[in-house]
Amino acid sequence: TVNGLEFAVKDLSLAPFGRKEIELAEHEMPGLMAIRRQYADTKPLKGARVAGSLHMTIQTAVLIETLVDLGAEVRWVSCNIFSTQDHAAAAVVVGRNGTPEAPAGTSVFAWKGETLAEYWWCTDQLFQFPGGLLPNMIVDDGGDATLLVHKGAEFEAAGAVPQPTADDNEEYQLILKTLADSLARDPKRFTKVAAEIRGVTEETTNGVKRLYKLAQDGELLFPAINVNDSVTKSKFDNKYGIRHSLADGINRATDVMLGGKLAVICGYGDVGKGAAESLRGQGARVVVTEIDPICALQAAMEGLEVVELDDVVHKGDLFITTTGNFGIISAAQMSRMKHNAIVGNVGHFDNEIDMAGLAKIPGIQKIEIKPQVHEWKFPDGHSVIVLSEGRLLNLGNATGHPSFVMSNSFTNQAIAQIELFTKPGEYEKDVYRLPKHLDEKVARLHLDALGVKLTKLTKEQAEYIGVDVEGPFKPEHYRY
Ligand code: NAI
Repeated sequence: TVNGLEFAVKDLSLAPFGRKEIELAEHEMPGLMAIRRQYADTKPLKGARVAGSLHMTIQTAVLIETLVDLGAEVRWVSCNIFSTQDHAAAAVVVGRNGTPEAPAGTSVFAWKGETLAEYWWCTDQLFQFPGGLLPNMIVDDGGDATLLVHKGAEFEAAGAVPQPTADDNEEYQLILKTLADSLARDPKRFTKVAAEIRGVTEETTNGVKRLYKLAQDGELLFPAINVNDSVTKSKFDNKYGIRHSLADGINRATDVMLGGKLAVICGYGDVGKGAAESLRGQGARVVVTEIDPICALQAAMEGLEVVELDDVVHKGDLFITTTGNFGIISAAQMSRMKHNAIVGNVGHFDNEIDMAGLAKIPGIQKIEIKPQVHEWKFPDGHSVIVLSEGRLLNLGNATGHPSFVMSNSFTNQAIAQIELFTKPGEYEKDVYRLPKHLDEKVARLHLDALGVKLTKLTKEQAEYIGVDVEGPFKPEHYRY
């Protein structure tokens, strides 16, 4: 704590560099900047205490400062142990008017290379605002902040946190420990937090899946907006963001020539489509695996061979998982790969690649090439290169998606926060999407920067296709 500001970041002296990059990012984030201008006077988030768990990058810094400009008080953590950009975290803590010696910004608890225990400690810091106040809004990416509140409230109702068992993985054991410590301090802490929260806005596919499950089971404790399924989020960030940041991550990690290599992409959803385009753009020969016949057919129509992993595992040079599912690449499959095959994941969680199984292979050696790049040497002398220990490599080995595409995602986030905060009682404990006219607004805010000249419908044309001249231009079921 310095000057009453709580934080835990790597090094505040990185703040001036962070500030310069934030200023460059602001220019590339026209949607967020328009939101700042639109709400400069009314400050719709005045009184909001936002707990944010989302990759602490330069782009996220622009989102955080937008929420602050809209009137919110904010506490922030990263949603991944490797995704923080330490200069971004430092700049947010120092703030626009502070100095590294006298920080005057926002509370951030995040650094690159947290341990899992540190990660859950940081996440727990979200739920205690200064003055004994609790958060009343959540921004989540993957659902870990929401999970802590739900599990906490569940165990509080039960009167105790269960003892970890040998079957629980390391991460779940840490969650239980975090909650046990919390319950010891205040036996109703998360019940109170849950009652205070007006809503959560969720950034990604996996987090959204968790929310729909909670809602289906009747266990969701507050309203939620699914930001991921705004068209201007998943059809842009997941696809074009990955198209940029996947190749970036592989290059920064390995600098291997991608042209001519055989790249296997597991999953051909929004992220998989961007991944395939990314590597094809570098001249790699891309093949994909899918379980969904529609996505498999899409891949085939794009000229991509659709294969089963086992049939290519011995000849691929590069394996990238994008499924949001678990157990996609097994340890046995990695042991059959070519020498120095590269294995990485861009799905949200680290269970797509069986890292635990890899570590258990008798005689295997883990050699650190540099942080987030490891050579795993099998007893027979051949190796695979694993990026970011199986976690999101585009954020662990590079800096994630570029500002312009994140401006689309985060403009949806800012609008969703305003919606849930300013309309308490209008939303049930359910999962909602933003209405299409707001989705179209987000896109519209990004056209000028690219010199796009939009054609305007005539009144007669609008009537002919059955829409309003000002939109929305498509029915809800349209798929883009
Ligand atoms: P999606 O649902 O559109 O795509 C996932 C695809 O994987 C689906 O088509 C599904 O049929 C397929 N799949 C599932 N199990 C499979 C299996 N066993 N083998 C082969 N294919 C399988 O989801 P989306 O939006 O593409 O997201 C994928 C993951 O990426 C999620 O975890 C999401 O949270 C994450 N994500 C990561 C980003 C990043 O910056 N790294 C950005 C956005 C999303």
